[in-house]
Amino acid sequence: MITGKFSKVSVICGFVLLLGFFLLYRFYGSPKINEVLKVSPVIMSKAIDSSRRNKVSGLPEKRRRLPKALIIGFNKCGSSTLRTFLTIHPDVVTPSQEIRFFNDHYSKGLEWYRRQMPRSTSRQITIEKTPGYIKSLKALKRIYKFDPNIKLIAIIRNPVTRLLSKFAHFQARKSSYANMNFEKRLFRKGYFEERVRKSSDYLSKVQLVYSLFPEDQLIIVSEEDLEADPLSLIRRILSFLGLRSTFSDDVFVFNETKGFFCVNKTHPLFPSVRRFVNETNGCMKDDKGRKHAEISQDLISKIVEESRPYVEKLFHVISVNFNWSYY
Ligand SMILES: *[C@@H]1O[C@H](CO)[C@@H](O)[C@H](O)[C@H]1NC(C)=O
Ligand SMILES: *[C@@H]1O[C@H](CO)[C@@H](O)[C@H](O)[C@H]1NC(C)=O
Ligand SMILES: *[C@@H]1O[C@H](CO)[C@@H](O)[C@H](O)[C@H]1NC(C)=O
Ligand SMILES: *[C@@H]1O[C@H](CO)[C@@H](O)[C@H](O)[C@H]1NC(C)=O
Repeated sequence: MITGKFSKVSVICGFVLLLGFFLLYRFYGSPKINEVLKVSPVIMSKAIDSSRRNKVSGLPEKRRRLPKALIIGFNKCGSSTLRTFLTIHPDVVTPSQEIRFFNDHYSKGLEWYRRQMPRSTSRQITIEKTPGYIKSLKALKRIYKFDPNIKLIAIIRNPVTRLLSKFAHFQARKSSYANMNFEKRLFRKGYFEERVRKSSDYLSKVQLVYSLFPEDQLIIVSEEDLEADPLSLIRRILSFLGLRSTFSDDVFVFNETKGFFCVNKTHPLFPSVRRFVNETNGCMKDDKGRKHAEISQDLISKIVEESRPYVEKLFHVISVNFNWSYY
């Protein structure tokens, strides 16, 4: 009973105190604030000046913006390098991670997605890369709902090299498998056909995109073209995105020792990609020394024969013949 009374009393006291503070603020607080401002008119006018100056000089406001384009595929096809190379462009910003919003984190909502984006000006466009999107019809439907006009980019790769790269990746991770004979494992019942299908059948995923979006909203490029001539390929994508072409010929340099292109680290545009260069070393291929498994010519022929129907159908449907060796 006593505690009950006490708590009633304390609630009333609390209320009276709050009312008191409110009245104090109402009658004394605000004039005091004005006084403070009067005391420092210089500071005030400086603040106003600088905000005006920003408007006058046209310094654009930077804030987090949702993507206008997505790199939606494919795994093990050079999408990280593509993202890095696009980020060199002054009008492109990209988050440093794969956000996996439309497939894995959709329930977190668009505001969460926006918060994952880097700050950008209204002139820049944000591109997010999650190569898993293209594999999921559900994710693609969500992307369509998000923005039916969004630009989509997919990078694909010669199925033979993709398959070998996947195996090398696997080998690097699971050392216990490293000593096992690659071919012996590969020809377990149905395994070979399944592996080849997974690495070659880009078309069924591309057709998921075509079932929702107009075909000209998806650009399909090949890792081999990026490797042979990054500048031309990046320029094609910039034009697809409607961005000005600002890349000069010396943005990428061919490294004779490595045998492929790297970002020119002394180029004025380089600072924008410095943090991505940690990921890819600024070069087409990583330097981690992963070696492709020893592959017999016979096995390569088998992969080529098994994957040929997928490749031919793809080239036919998208009306592009990529310059892939073996095909
Ligand atoms: C080319 O690559 C090698 C090996 O990583 C490196 O030592 C060298 O500095 C590179 N050359 C240029 C011009 O970037
Ligand atoms: C790298 O970029 C700088 C600045 O544009 C240029 O002077 C230099 O020649 C470029 N390096 C190469 C190897 O093209
Ligand atoms: C790049 O990696 C090095 C260490 O590997 C780290 O010290 C540095 O902070 C990284 N830079 C960025 C921009 O992530
Ligand atoms: C196709 O690629 C090979 C190297 O793999 C190259 O020698 C040839 O010039 C390329 N052809 C075209 C038309 O780009």
